[in-house]
Amino acid sequence: MEQHDINVIVNGQKLRRRVSARQHLIDFLRNELSLTGSHLGCEHGVCGACTIQVNGTAVRGCLMLAVQADGASVDTIEGLSDSGAIADLQDAFHKHNALQCGFCTPGMLATAAELVEQHPNADREEIRAHISGNYCRCTGYHAIVDAIATVLDARRKAAGGSGA
Ligand code: FES
Ligand code: FES
Repeated sequence: MEQHDINVIVNGQKLRRRVSARQHLIDFLRNELSLTGSHLGCEHGVCGACTIQVNGTAVRGCLMLAVQADGASVDTIEGLSDSGAIADLQDAFHKHNALQCGFCTPGMLATAAELVEQHPNADREEIRAHISGNYCRCTGYHAIVDAIATVLDARRKAAGGSGA
């Protein structure tokens, strides 16, 4: 099978690896790097369980090939968590009971992290639209929206905004 060398930064660590042309990024992360926090659900880009960040943008790890990550910076739930970047989101999910089985949670957090970074003024409708590609079978989404809205509000207040 055709192999390629890739240079990639994963959770802040520079790596050089040889990957097969057809290996998906999520399989590379889970199987080669043992970063199993990102889950694999549908494998067809539908459920969002495999959502990670590539160059700060939420992407489906099951739709991207590892070779396409050559030269990119990839952050998984492990990196986002260890860096403290999503500590407030994790705390809010916990406080608002926004997770039950937790299977969707890593992907949901990666998507929510993108939202709070890129759309700090998002309202509840925009939050719902942003997470609409991430399926959750347990929570009914209401608690997840509450958690994300709380974080957006707190970050706006911390940034000196009105928080309204
Ligand atoms: S596993 Fe990638 S979207 Fe479902
Ligand atoms: S918490 Fe179970 S799928 Fe979302």
